[in-house]
Amino acid sequence: MEKRQQLYAGKAKSVYETDDPDRLVMLFRNDTSAFDGKKKAQLDRKGMVNNKFNAFIMEKLAAAAIATHFERLLCAQESLVKRLQMIPVECVVRNIAAGSLCRRLGVEEGLDLTPPTFEFFLKDDALGDPMINDYHIRAFGWAGAAQVEKMKELTFAVNDVLKPLFLAGDMLLVDYKLEFGLHRGELLLGDEFTPDGCRLWDRETREKLDKDRFRQDLGDVVESYELVGRRLGLNFD
Ligand code: TMP
Ligand code: ASP
Repeated sequence: MEKRQQLYAGKAKSVYETDDPDRLVMLFRNDTSAFDGKKKAQLDRKGMVNNKFNAFIMEKLAAAAIATHFERLLCAQESLVKRLQMIPVECVVRNIAAGSLCRRLGVEEGLDLTPPTFEFFLKDDALGDPMINDYHIRAFGWAGAAQVEKMKELTFAVNDVLKPLFLAGDMLLVDYKLEFGLHRGELLLGDEFTPDGCRLWDRETREKLDKDRFRQDLGDVVESYELVGRRLGLNFD
């Protein structure tokens, strides 16, 4: 497999073509950003930690029969993935109230959500990732009705796999964001699952162990990501 020209550079990852038209290299950079790119920093080791963390989670999901784009780790900061035609929406499930839900609805952070909630957001930094619903997705042609249903089903299926996984490491999966795409007509989980795109709290103390440490200037951002990984049995050395 030969890495070729850069196809796309996002806020924390870059994507490269390869000699196989169906495969891409995903490079996890040390860049971090929040608030739709308004707050930025470079964090040592973050690319490597997130690449290995993502590989671990994607393999757990694949083992639970959730189809993902992930193929294999290539090196410290790179993974090989299937090429997807991305659907420009973000799927968010919440088990506990935090972040924008608290701001929008005026509820207290930490409230248990039963059943867990589901939200779609449009992936568009210039618009501030506005919340949208099924009808917008269909009316603007971002995805069809069957794909919308499948995205919801798969996003909840991920909860069933990851909530107990994190709980076994004494962590609460508060919420998370997933992105999907199409590969030869099949809907696959794409992008990443790392502490950049979810909220994880210590089960006892409710200490924040995810990107809220960066958003809220709590410090020890990458150290916390590594702690989460170690509690799941990962080794970053
Ligand atoms: P929110 O509380 O800001 O709406 O975010 C909910 C969860 O989804 C949180 O874990 C962060 C993640 N998320 C992203 O990673 N990127 C995004 O663009 C959005 C809207 C949410
Ligand atoms: N939508 C936000 C961003 O893209 C999510 C965050 O605050 O991390 O930066």
